[in-house]
Amino acid sequence: MDRRPVGFFDSGLGGLSVLREAVKILPHENFIFFGDNKNAPYGDKTRNEVASLTADATDFLVSKGVKAVVLACNTATAASVFELRKSLTLPIISVEPAIKPACEAGGDGSVLMLATLATTHLERYIRLKGRMQNPSRIIDIPCPGLVERIEKGIIGVGEFDDILEKHLSPYYGIKVDAIVLGCTHYVFIGEAVREFALRHFSGDCKLYDGGAGTARQLGRRLRELDLENDSGCGDIEFCTSGDMNTYRPIFEKLMKI
Ligand code: DGL
Repeated sequence: MDRRPVGFFDSGLGGLSVLREAVKILPHENFIFFGDNKNAPYGDKTRNEVASLTADATDFLVSKGVKAVVLACNTATAASVFELRKSLTLPIISVEPAIKPACEAGGDGSVLMLATLATTHLERYIRLKGRMQNPSRIIDIPCPGLVERIEKGIIGVGEFDDILEKHLSPYYGIKVDAIVLGCTHYVFIGEAVREFALRHFSGDCKLYDGGAGTARQLGRRLRELDLENDSGCGDIEFCTSGDMNTYRPIFEKLMKI
């Protein structure tokens, strides 16, 4: 029995989409969530900038006495999970774009992979894509602009059409079997993305994200390492590099969705 909290990190609010999955399956665990809202978005930054901000964030979580860290940010994972696993002794669980289940579901249409510019350019993702059976089905679409709007707490259907139009219009009319939400922020606007996609593409446009899989992986690692907390009602502490008065209501709203 280990009551120490599990630390969750994202550039901002997106990591809450992974945290809410973890809370569902690990109700006894205590969690500390750190959103680097002041520095979001990470997606337009260089690899070194993202790696340095991620190292600061994990140091912060370690200083809070966490027993494991979840990188609930595809961009931070792509930029620095390898180095972090070398430098930290505690378990690090990370999210990655869910292209595997999306490709394994079959079909003859395309798989659209929506993510930050940084994620789509980084070697870790490019290697992951190379392991798919038919990588040419995957169309990477960096979507600058979405994270900034989600950081304001905006997530409604129809509220992203201008940005989606800009990034998706070159592909209008194609058959899309799957859309991978390869940024944890985008999970909150899954409905907005799907509703838009169904208007402009043929095919099912089924959504995939890595949140639930990452939460299950966290549960497995805690069990394997005997770090589980298996009684009592877990608690969540929210931390931000931004203004807590601004972000707390948004944290609370997104955790309830
Ligand atoms: N939520 C992040 C991700 O999963 C990064 C968003 C950003 O800061 O650009 O990639």
